[in-house]
Amino acid sequence: MISPKQVQEILDAVRIEDVVGEFVNLRRRGVNLIGLCPFHSEKTPSFNVNPTRNIFKCFGCGKVGDAVTFLREHESLTYPEALRWLAKKYNIEVREVERTPEQIAEQQLAESLYIVNDFALEHFQQQLFDTDEGRSVALAYFKQRGLREETIRTFGLGYAPDQRDLLLRRAKGAGHNLDLLKKNGLCSQDGTRDFFRARVMFSIHNLSGKIAAFAGRTMSSDKTTPKYVNSPETEIYVKSKTLYGLFQAKKAIRQHDECLLTEGYMDVISLHQAGIENVVASSGTALTEGQLQLIKRNTNNLKILYDGDPAGIKAALRGLDLALEQDMNVKICLLPDGHDPDSYVQQFGGDAFKQYVDENAKDFILFKTQLLVAETRGDPVKKAALIKDIVSSIAKIPDPIKRSVYLKECASLLDVDEKALHSETNKLITATLKKREEKAARQPGAASDSPGPADGDFGWPTEMPPGTPESESFVPLAKEKPLVRGDEFQERDIIRLLVQYGHQMLDKEGLTVAAYVLADIEESLGDFDNLLYGKIAAECHALLVAGQSFDQNYFLHHAEKEFSDLAIDLLASPWELSPNWEEKWNYPLQNQVMPDLNFDLDMRQALDRFKLRKIQKMCDLNLGRVKAASDAGDMEAMIRYMKIQQKLNETRNEIAKRAGTVLWAK
Ligand code: GTP
Ligand code: MN
Repeated sequence: MISPKQVQEILDAVRIEDVVGEFVNLRRRGVNLIGLCPFHSEKTPSFNVNPTRNIFKCFGCGKVGDAVTFLREHESLTYPEALRWLAKKYNIEVREVERTPEQIAEQQLAESLYIVNDFALEHFQQQLFDTDEGRSVALAYFKQRGLREETIRTFGLGYAPDQRDLLLRRAKGAGHNLDLLKKNGLCSQDGTRDFFRARVMFSIHNLSGKIAAFAGRTMSSDKTTPKYVNSPETEIYVKSKTLYGLFQAKKAIRQHDECLLTEGYMDVISLHQAGIENVVASSGTALTEGQLQLIKRNTNNLKILYDGDPAGIKAALRGLDLALEQDMNVKICLLPDGHDPDSYVQQFGGDAFKQYVDENAKDFILFKTQLLVAETRGDPVKKAALIKDIVSSIAKIPDPIKRSVYLKECASLLDVDEKALHSETNKLITATLKKREEKAARQPGAASDSPGPADGDFGWPTEMPPGTPESESFVPLAKEKPLVRGDEFQERDIIRLLVQYGHQMLDKEGLTVAAYVLADIEESLGDFDNLLYGKIAAECHALLVAGQSFDQNYFLHHAEKEFSDLAIDLLASPWELSPNWEEKWNYPLQNQVMPDLNFDLDMRQALDRFKLRKIQKMCDLNLGRVKAASDAGDMEAMIRYMKIQQKLNETRNEIAKRAGTVLWAK
C-alpha cells in the first residue's frame, strides 16, 4: 500500500501532458494540447489536454479525467498500479506501507490460485493438442464448430478427457497443493476425482488476462448431462464482476466505442474470429451492476444481442434500467429465429452479421415499449401498468434532452398524451431526488438572512451608465467573432448555481452561494435574454431581499410548473454541459463532472462566464454611445462615455484574464 502522503507527492509531480504524451501524439493549441482521442476512433482531433487544470477531456466521446484516470482507462491499470507507474516515471521512490498479515496472506492465496489455474490450462491444452484422443474428439469438435487453431489458442480452449483423476495426479506430481485444487474447483472436495471430465474446456480470464476460472462443455447431446459446468466462485473469480471475453475485447470496445453483449461463450469466440472483436458474454445470466460498470469503463454504448424466446427477453429487459441510470445508450438486436450470434456468423460471415445488426438494432426503450404494447390492446389495466413501467425507465435517464425525446416517441407508441407522460416522469424524478436528498447527510447552512455582499468590489466598473441598457440599442460587437448569440447558456448556468447549491455557505465570504451570485450580478438582473431564467433570478433576488431562504426543494415544488420542470432538469442531469455547447457558444466551458465537490470554484467560473458575456454587451452598447456623441459633436458626452469605455475594458480584461487561467481557453 502507498501512504496517502506519498500519493499526494506523486500526484503533485504529475504533468498530464507528459503522461498522455507517452501514448498520444499531442500538438499545442493555445494553452492546451490537442490530439487524436485514444478512447474512440476519430480522424480530426478532439482530445484536449489542459496543463493548467492537469486534466484531459475528449470533446468527441466525452471522456474526461486526470493522469491517473488516463492510465487506468488506457492501460487498464488499477489505481495503485497507476500510481506506481507515475512514481516510476517521476523517479519517486515508493515506500510501501506495511501490509497487514491478512493482506499478505490474501495476496499470496490469490497468486497461488492463479498458478494452479495456469497449470490446469496447460494440462487442458496439452490434452487437446498433443493427444490422439484430444485431437480426434475435442479438436475435431472445435473445428467442426468452425474454430481455427489460432482462435482456439487465443481463447485458451482445451480438453478434459473422461478420466477419473488425470489432472489431480499430474498436479500432485508437480507439487501442487491439494487444497488449492479443491478451492479452484478442479477436483472433488474429497480430493479423489477431477471435476471437469469428458468436456471441452473454456478459460475465463480476468481483466489482465490471468485465468480466473474454467467452464467445461459436454460434447454429448444427452439432455440429462448439464451442458456446461463451471468453476466455483473464489477469491479470484467473482461471477457478478466478470464478463466473458472482456480481456480479449477491451481494446476493440474502446476503438469502436461500443460493446456487443451476447449470451454464450461460443458467440464471443465465433464473432471474434470473424473480426468482430468488441464482444463479451454475460454467460447466460442477467447483467449485474458490476458487469455494467466493467462495460461502462470502456464505452457508453451497449448493444445487446438476444437469441431467446419472448419470455426470456422480457426477463432480460428488466435488468437494463441499471444501464439507463448510468446514462448508457442501450440498443437491442434480436437474432432471427433459430439463430444465435455464433450460428449466424458461422453461416453468413462477419460482414453479413454486421449488416444484420446495423439494420435490426433498436433503441432499448422503444424496443421495450413496442414489445409490450402489443399485449395491452384492449386492456386498460395492463396498459396503465405498462405506462408506469416505461415512465420509470425513462425517469432513470439523467440527460433531460434524451428524456424528452423518449417521452415524445413513447407517447406516440402508447397513444397517450405526451404532457401526461412528462408530468409522470417528473413526479418520479422529484421523488428520487427527494430520497437522495434525505439520504445525504444534511449540510449545515441554509440560505443566509444577510443578503447582499459587504462593500462590494465585484469587478464591476463603478461608473456605469444609469439604468439598464435596452436590448434594441445593442450594437452587435465584432461581427467576425460569433460572440453575440444571446446569453442563454451563461444565464442557464447561473440558474443552475442558484438551484443546485444556492443554499450552500461560502466559507470565505460567509454568504450563501445565492446571496453572493445575486449580488454579483445584480446589475444584470433585468438584462436576461431568456425570460424564464430572468424570472427565476428576479424571484430569488426578491426572496433574499425579503430575508427569506430557499433551497432545492423550493424550486422542485414551485407552483410555477416551468420553474419546477427546469429545476428537475438541472438537478437530474449530472452533465449539464455537453461538448458541442462549447463550440456552439464559442466559449470555454468547464467540465461538470463533479461540481458538487467544488461548488465554490464552479460558482466563480460560472459567474466569470456570465459577466464576460454581459460586459461585452455593455462595451458594445457604450461604444455606440461614444460614436453617437462624436457624430453629434457633443465633446462632453464623448469624453464621459470614453472614460466609461476604459473602465469597462479594464474590467473585461481582468475577468478574461482570470477566466483564462481557470477555464478551457481556445
Ligand atoms: P453452444 O450450444 O455450444 O453454442 O453454447 P452457447 O455458448 O451458445 O450456449 P447457450 O446459448 O446454450 O447458453 C448461453 C450461455 O449460458 C453459455 O455460454 C453458458 O455460459 C450458459 N449456460 C448454458 N447452459 C448452461 C448450463 O447448463 N450450466 C451453466 N452453468 N451455464 C450454462
Ligand atoms: Mn450457441
